Amino acid sequence: MPAFDLDAWVARSRAIDLTEIDWEAVPRHPVAPEILRTLRYMQDIESHTIVYTRSLLATRAIADPEVATFLACWLYEETFHGLALARFLQAAGRPVGERERPRGSESFPQWLEARLTAVLSRAWPDFCAVHMIWGAINELTTLTGYLRLKTVARHPVLDELLETIMRDESRHFFFYYRQAEIRLQRPVAARVARLLVDRFWAPVGSGVGSDEDLKFMARYLFSGDEGRAQARKVDDTLRKLPGFANAQLLEAWMDRHVGPTGHNGGLNGHRHN
Ligand SMILES: [Fe+2]
Ligand SMILES: [Fe+2]
Repeated sequence: MPAFDLDAWVARSRAIDLTEIDWEAVPRHPVAPEILRTLRYMQDIESHTIVYTRSLLATRAIADPEVATFLACWLYEETFHGLALARFLQAAGRPVGERERPRGSESFPQWLEARLTAVLSRAWPDFCAVHMIWGAINELTTLTGYLRLKTVARHPVLDELLETIMRDESRHFFFYYRQAEIRLQRPVAARVARLLVDRFWAPVGSGVGSDEDLKFMARYLFSGDEGRAQARKVDDTLRKLPGFANAQLLEAWMDRHVGPTGHNGGLNGHRHN
């Protein structure tokens, strides 16, 4: 039995059809400032995928034909998430505009991190396991973030758009998770991957947007009983992977950076009509 049906996966890969969304209906429904701030952050991170790809292409990831094919589809789909969110923001009267820092520019720590990742990948044949678990964590937190945003925003056009994006994110998650599940069966791969995740993992977008925006978004989406329950669900799913039982992920990050359970400043209950 094949480990993963790539043909079936690729057959479902497509860009979001921007002509199918009723953009004209966007301004007919209010969008709270918190939602706009969250969307701007998400839009920036989605559009940053091409830069992540730059580091990935310097690793062993592209030596595996299955992973290389996946990455090509993944980049294409994520790019359209960025375009679709930009279009929504424009329709809502808050166009994205230019970034303060050009997207391609890296800080020295980012440059160094990319080089060290490339060196580790060259030296260690099982490197791909780390890439796959990293992707699985990031796709699942992204998917859950969109689900939370959809729940609190209650905007009909955004609802439809997020449904479409979430379908892609869940396919991305499935690929990474399945690959991680297979590759982490090697005990050394699982141990090294766990060590690196414990030491270095932070939510996707860390170091790309501002820290304040990341913390704001995390508090907005994952605080309060409902948000915390969703964060726990993310962690519980990832803990099923070999070597990741008891891994401290999204909830632990929330505790360290955002604050203890339930302290959401009332944002979780935010509704507007
Ligand atoms: Fe995405
Ligand atoms: Fe994704």
